[in-house]
Amino acid sequence: MNGPSRQKLVSFTLVGLLSLPLLARGADRLDSEIGQAQAVAAKNGMVVAQEAQAARVGVDILRKGGNAVDAAVAVGFALAVTYPRAGNIGGGGFMVIHRAGGGDTTIDYRETAPQAINEKSFLDAQGNADPWKSRDSALSIGVPGTVAGLALAEEKYGSGHFTLADLIAPAIALARDGFAVADDTADSLSRDQARLKRWPSSAQIFLKPDGDVLAPGDRLVQPDLANTLEAIARDGPRAFYQGAVAEKIAAAIDAAGGVMTLDDLKAYRAVERTPVRGTYRGYDIVSMPPPSSGGVALIEMLNILEGYDLAHADAAQALFLMVEAMKRAYADRALFLGDPDRVQVPVARLTSKSYAAAWRATIDPARATPARDLGRGGGGRPEGRNTTHFSVIDRFGNAVANTYTLNFSYGVGLVAAGTGVLLNNELDDFAVKPEVPNAYGLLGYEANAPAPGKRPLSSMTPTIVLKDGKPFLVTGSPGGSLIINAVLQVVIDVIDRGMDIADAVSAPRVYDQWMPDTVFAEPGLSGDLIAALEARGDSVRVRRLPTSANSILVTPAGFVGAADPRTRGALAAGY
Ligand code: GLY
Repeated sequence: MNGPSRQKLVSFTLVGLLSLPLLARGADRLDSEIGQAQAVAAKNGMVVAQEAQAARVGVDILRKGGNAVDAAVAVGFALAVTYPRAGNIGGGGFMVIHRAGGGDTTIDYRETAPQAINEKSFLDAQGNADPWKSRDSALSIGVPGTVAGLALAEEKYGSGHFTLADLIAPAIALARDGFAVADDTADSLSRDQARLKRWPSSAQIFLKPDGDVLAPGDRLVQPDLANTLEAIARDGPRAFYQGAVAEKIAAAIDAAGGVMTLDDLKAYRAVERTPVRGTYRGYDIVSMPPPSSGGVALIEMLNILEGYDLAHADAAQALFLMVEAMKRAYADRALFLGDPDRVQVPVARLTSKSYAAAWRATIDPARATPARDLGRGGGGRPEGRNTTHFSVIDRFGNAVANTYTLNFSYGVGLVAAGTGVLLNNELDDFAVKPEVPNAYGLLGYEANAPAPGKRPLSSMTPTIVLKDGKPFLVTGSPGGSLIINAVLQVVIDVIDRGMDIADAVSAPRVYDQWMPDTVFAEPGLSGDLIAALEARGDSVRVRRLPTSANSILVTPAGFVGAADPRTRGALAAGY
């Protein structure tokens, strides 16, 4: 295979991450306690996003009379410029939309596998899973969905007062004029320097001529990306999926040893899907259906937990029950979930109250259930990589929860030369071999096996909670396999514990994804709670993990937003 060699890339592992000197500068310290989010109130509209310039772009569109979808589309394109580690047009994601007056929908713009990918693509000659192929090589690149997805959302649910070009214009200006690199981006560039350095087209943008990465305050100017965005603004998504841009993307992937062709790009379609719905203590939960596992697993966990009085339960017991629910939903995730266009996914069964009751009956309130008792076996290590979530609400009653990603931070690290487009490594989200964990430690089986044109299973969980048919909570998070757990805890903290949104977003979280059979607890969680989990038989490790639940709560006094303090530079902004 052409392209970069199988050099050891220490930044791929959390161990590597911990050893990097940048953490001494006070970056997102994995052992430090979490700060406190600021609650930001607004009457007319709000955007909460992981990067401030993009959040302001969205608020500006709202101010000019745009609806939540207009603003979300503008934020999505802006983040592709200002937050290159996860904002993207070279990856994919999901948008959940609540429309004023009723009608919820979702846009699935998940990447698809090129036609040349099959169940053997990520195996070595001996038939073993080869993580280099699925994570670090150009074979890992899925056909990007973001441009098609954002354009579809705008065409169907935008206000009609803006053209796609109007909404891309702020992103073009940011790419062409450049902006000062923020601390958070500078830190992430340091972490992923080795990955980006592998390709001159990437190094030219994110590294200085001497090989150092851009530092805080350095200007990031992206003229090729500006040209690509301009082409999309002028000619629509066709300019990305056909013609000169597509040719350059296909050529770059081919030169790097990948298999995506011009035909794969031309064939890409974003899909509108009916949301997955549930109820929880009188609220309606509207979330993303497969090919994300997020909505199904979230509703399954909430259904299990609805059978307990969490509001009045002893805190340790409530936490224990939550962990038991997590294990069960993630075991089902591994076994049943995949691309609904390719496999039968029993969504109705998994999200039914009766199914939850049956799972609840297996929970011993005094004893942790070993993970191996809950499904087929295996193991791995959960690691949050980079994805990004933003929440938007407008004064007309519309709301958008959007999560999109390149998978790892900066995706596979390859910028398609001449386009400015960073490409994803999303195909590692397939179960490349049954029971072999992916980068997040997630297992899977046949339902999520690689196949031509198929969408890999995701954990992204953009979610809108409704009360009496109106938006109550807009939430979601990055964090790979941990996303669903993060969203669950924001919902429970608000609904069961009556927390305000700043406290709910800031509270230390726990994560359990069935395998490995370990509860990860964030620093700041009380030692008594950890001891109580351990006394019931859970194995607990304390670790800060990069979820970032940028959320909006609708209160009688107006919108209240909270940017997750786990990410420096995130912003809740409204007007
Ligand atoms: N790439 C992470 C996810 O979609 O779950």
